[in-house]
Amino acid sequence: MSDSYRVALVTGATSGIGRAIVPALRQRGLIVYAVGRNAGQLAELSAETGALPIEADVRDVARITQALEGVEVDILVNNAGILSTRAAFQDIDPAEIDAMIDINLKAPMHLTRAFLPGMVARKRGHLIYLGSSGGQAPYPNMGAYGPSKAGLSLFCDNLRCDLLGSSVRVSEIVPGRVQTALYRNSIADGQANALLYDGYRAIQPENIARIVSDVIDLPVFVDVARIEVFPTDQATGGGTMVKFEAP
Ligand SMILES: NC(=O)c1ccc[n+]([C@@H]2O[C@H](COP(=O)([O-])OP(=O)(O)OC[C@H]3O[C@@H](n4cnc5c(N)ncnc54)[C@H](OP(=O)(O)O)[C@@H]3O)[C@@H](O)[C@H]2O)c1
Repeated sequence: MSDSYRVALVTGATSGIGRAIVPALRQRGLIVYAVGRNAGQLAELSAETGALPIEADVRDVARITQALEGVEVDILVNNAGILSTRAAFQDIDPAEIDAMIDINLKAPMHLTRAFLPGMVARKRGHLIYLGSSGGQAPYPNMGAYGPSKAGLSLFCDNLRCDLLGSSVRVSEIVPGRVQTALYRNSIADGQANALLYDGYRAIQPENIARIVSDVIDLPVFVDVARIEVFPTDQATGGGTMVKFEAP
């Protein structure tokens, strides 16, 4: 790890991948600020890992920056995200379009805008984003989630152009399916395991946390720009055809 990194900020720290990233970064000796909406889960995380809790919605950037006034954030892990519906786009609740774009794309952009000037001034920083395989290729029923993650992916590429010469690294971690609670609102209670995770060897949040940790660990002149991580038992691609009977 760049031995000058001292402070990390992790969003979506109360569940899944973010919940696993926090202890991984604490083990590296970093001071970790953990952003989440659930006070109880944040308190538990804090007691267990020594992370410093910030109870906030990621869309409330002012609240997060206020909590961190005077703190030099070196690593920003933009992990919080939602996949709140799996409806076909013609059936999607319009509010879900805004929610996914706001949380998955706009909030990481605004948090980046808030913390990046300090990183650039110090010539020290690492921006990490949780993208998705759903942002790299089309999938059914992902008409809002996919574009939110595709936008995030292009944002990372744009940032790399703007940050050339600043020593600030930009890494997008692009997982396929990971066994978390991501589908809690889009798949009826108790069915996610049967539908998504049973019957093959699913990636666990700790596996992604290890990758995040390793990406940070590399010398500061090495930037893992984008890394795709799939279960060995998952492949994307192929095509689906529908045959029509002549009327
Ligand atoms: N699991 C997968 O298969 C997979 C694959 C590719 C990419 N990803 C990405 O990985 C990231 C982490 O997801 P996960 O799989 O770990 O899912 P998860 O278990 O549902 O965790 C998501 C976290 O984000 C938080 N969050 C959501 N909306 C928030 C908001 N408005 N403000 C603050 N926190 C908010 C959640 O907190 P609350 O409990 O308060 O909602 C939770 O802590 C997401 O960006 C997701 O898109 C996941």
